Amino acid sequence: MKKNEKKDTFKFFDPDNSNDSAKIVLVTGGAGFIGSNFITYLINKYPDYKIINFDKLTYAGNLNNLIFIEENPNYVFVKGNVADKKDVKNVFEQFNPDFVVHFAAESHVDRSIINPDIFLQTNILGTQILLNYSREHKVKKFILISTDEVYGSIEKNKSVTEEAHLAPNNPYAASKAAADLLIRVAHQTYGQRVNIIRSCNNFGPYQFPEKFIPVMIYNALNNKELPVYGDGKNIRDWIHVEDHCRAIDLVLHKGKSGEIYNVGANNEWENLSLVEYILDKMNCSRSLISFVLDRKGHDFRYSMDSSKIKNEFGWKPAIEFEDGLAQTIMWYKSHTDWVENIHSGEYMNYYDEVYKDRNLETQ
Ligand code: NAD
Ligand code: DAU
Repeated sequence: MKKNEKKDTFKFFDPDNSNDSAKIVLVTGGAGFIGSNFITYLINKYPDYKIINFDKLTYAGNLNNLIFIEENPNYVFVKGNVADKKDVKNVFEQFNPDFVVHFAAESHVDRSIINPDIFLQTNILGTQILLNYSREHKVKKFILISTDEVYGSIEKNKSVTEEAHLAPNNPYAASKAAADLLIRVAHQTYGQRVNIIRSCNNFGPYQFPEKFIPVMIYNALNNKELPVYGDGKNIRDWIHVEDHCRAIDLVLHKGKSGEIYNVGANNEWENLSLVEYILDKMNCSRSLISFVLDRKGHDFRYSMDSSKIKNEFGWKPAIEFEDGLAQTIMWYKSHTDWVENIHSGEYMNYYDEVYKDRNLETQ
């Protein structure tokens, strides 16, 4: 189907009435945590952009994240799997996107240790299939949302630039590193216009409560034990999801093709200190902390040098950690339905499996 042929089922986009600045953006994984925050950001900032949210709706995909924009005429949701050629072909033929912003992934390290296969299918094969159709449809820019985990564990007092070698240590990180290399190949071999963004740990509203900060907030709210892996000395750098979205926006519009951008917040916390800080902020007792068996291959620390995006585009995190965390705690407190919906599904089986293996009493 050509760009100028309309499909009745997609009433949101009328190519006959579009103007040159009206970009069509295919966002994969837009029903997940960062993807849904990014779609909301994009739709508010660029009201003439047309946004297609292409998502398989795995356990982590939740259309309730986008309830406030689902009626927006410039937004459409298409259910599909990035690792399924037919699904990807259809969405490209129907919409012929100008930009692709690729978030869709299996994203949780603990799950990747239990079952790596789906990580390879979605994160590697899915990326290649999207690249193939992007080439065929002459997409103007393809952005891969990657991660600091591709660099592996970083010693104290050191940080890595975009030039550092890749040294992933868990199946999730390896699958993301493989995807990064496929982006490089698309640029080097086929001349595709691409960027890679490698960000540190995100937090904020709509994060699936299998990840550290929402697990801790939810358990504290419900007077449950807070499971800290190992001795709690591992270090992560935390960025508010909105600051990450602003970085993606800049790279999408200004990034030179083929370039990689680190997006770190310079906000490093030992896990244990962060849990204590969260408990104090919530006026909960630190006695809820429970040390549990460590994650296999647990990376000690991630730390990136983000001078490049700062120097080139003047980007820097705008949200103070204390404010962002307070907002996030408030969000989880006032969205108990959102969390309870998740807790009533597949999630509890996962929680029991992953934490029982770590000797945490889960009932
Ligand atoms: P998430 O798990 O919350 O969301 C992933 C989304 O992808 C879900 O909506 C899911 O339904 C969808 N999806 C999964 N498999 C799919 C498939 N085969 N086809 C189509 N859709 C599929 O993840 P997130 O935390 O929002 O992360 C988004 C991206 O950002 C990922 O690529 C992740 O690697 C990367 N990233 C995340 C962080 C972080 O701290 N969360 C940091 C750096 C990079
Ligand atoms: O660094 C970027 C990465 O951050 C992203 O690429 C991943 O998609 C995202 O999941 C996240 O990976 P981490 O493994 O760093 O995040 P997670 O929230 O799973 O864990 C953060 C730290 O907290 C890590 O050191 C493990 C620890 N942890 C985690 C959980 C879920 C605990 O101590 N207890 C827990 O219950």
